[in-house]
Amino acid sequence: MRRVVLPEIGTFDAWRDEARALLSAGVPPEEVLWFRGEAEPDLFAAPLPAVEGGAVTVPKGFVDLARQVIWHSDPERFARLYAVLWALRGNRHLLADRGDARIDRLNRMAKEVGRDRHKMTAFVRFREVAAPNGGRRQFAAWFEPSHYILEPTAPFFAKRFGDMDWSIFTPDLSAHFDGKAVRFEAGAERPDLPEDAAEELWRTYFRNIFNPARLKLGAMRAEMPRKYWKNMPETRLIPEMVAAAQARARQMAEAAPTLAPARAARIGERLQAARAAPPPVGDRAELLAGLNGCRRCPLWKDATQAVPGEGPPDAPLMVVGEQPGDREDLEGRPFVGPAGRLFDEVAARAGLDRGRAYVTNAVKHFKFAPRGKRRIHQAPDRGEMQQCRWWLDRERALVQPELIVAMGATAAESLTGKRAGLMSRRGGIEETPDGARVLITVHPSYLLRLPEGERAAATALFEADLRKAAAVQSGR
Ligand code: URA
Repeated sequence: MRRVVLPEIGTFDAWRDEARALLSAGVPPEEVLWFRGEAEPDLFAAPLPAVEGGAVTVPKGFVDLARQVIWHSDPERFARLYAVLWALRGNRHLLADRGDARIDRLNRMAKEVGRDRHKMTAFVRFREVAAPNGGRRQFAAWFEPSHYILEPTAPFFAKRFGDMDWSIFTPDLSAHFDGKAVRFEAGAERPDLPEDAAEELWRTYFRNIFNPARLKLGAMRAEMPRKYWKNMPETRLIPEMVAAAQARARQMAEAAPTLAPARAARIGERLQAARAAPPPVGDRAELLAGLNGCRRCPLWKDATQAVPGEGPPDAPLMVVGEQPGDREDLEGRPFVGPAGRLFDEVAARAGLDRGRAYVTNAVKHFKFAPRGKRRIHQAPDRGEMQQCRWWLDRERALVQPELIVAMGATAAESLTGKRAGLMSRRGGIEETPDGARVLITVHPSYLLRLPEGERAAATALFEADLRKAAAVQSGR
């Protein structure tokens, strides 16, 4: 029997070297005992002789699988991997055998490790622990993973948080980053980490993304198991937010979509008849007729009708939203539902005259999922946006506005090609690929989803953005 002791750091490379040597010496799995870190090495074991024909090339799929499974907490993981490696010599296609219990087990282990790594990247929360050292701020975090994942996951943090010094402590190992390299040391007890200003930021972020109408405690616990909660500042808000969720959900339901089968069907029939008629001439009329016959993407199938933009064809300002909502779908006009009412109010305060602006959407059909009696808004995907940009470009060509206001991430992406980082871009002027000026701001629906305590400040920022647009409008 051979005892193989693998190091706690560099475990995968060490296992691969040992397994390769054992395999080429023809040592069968049942003659190997594997350990990590803590066991005494087998000092008196004879060096392994390579036997002729013993060397094998290992399928890449197996190496990828082993690279993940090796971090699992199952004490048998090294032996399980070696057993499969051994069996691969006689059956190169073993990995593809879905009925093989050994492969099935390894695949499940790889998934469990993958999930744990994902949770670590999402749930580690750093706290500032000391004064900056030579300009670099210093942070630490405590995390309790289910598997031995600190070593493979640390590079993610080095890349993401490269501009600060950090340590991550886990019961098994700790990792320390100084801007150049990650150094590993023994595991630690949970350190006493101070609260810091970043905690308030996390809590604000969490409040903003929390949607009371979608409160599903089971799914929340599955995604963010309780054992992680104690290290995450924002989770302290959960009981309070759950308690308030019913009231907020009720408020949101009041502004919620209606199911419109009978009315929608009648409008649909009317449009069907219009579609059969030859398209009227004239730029805008042609646009409307064309839109209702549009089959560039499948959204027309469920929507009641296309919703074109509206406003003077020579408006100096064009305002672009995401897509029609429930009310807009029924009325065939943009921004006439709750988001539209908020836009109207804030625009009026900002001095923006909606009647002199061309108001439209990046996508012209309402995309929704039926849930019970309601039609629940679904964000358009990139393909739908791209198909519909053809129409938006035609509207732009007709109106030729001096400035376009992109409200929300969909409009911003459709016009500039860039989606990410809306909050840091808001208030700024960007360009479409053909050089038109685009003012980036948030979507009024985002303001409607904010908790009451935060809505006023965010609305004031929105108003400030619209004021910039109003200045362009009045300057013409
Ligand atoms: N949201 C939008 O983006 N557009 C509308 O027309 C209505 C709601």
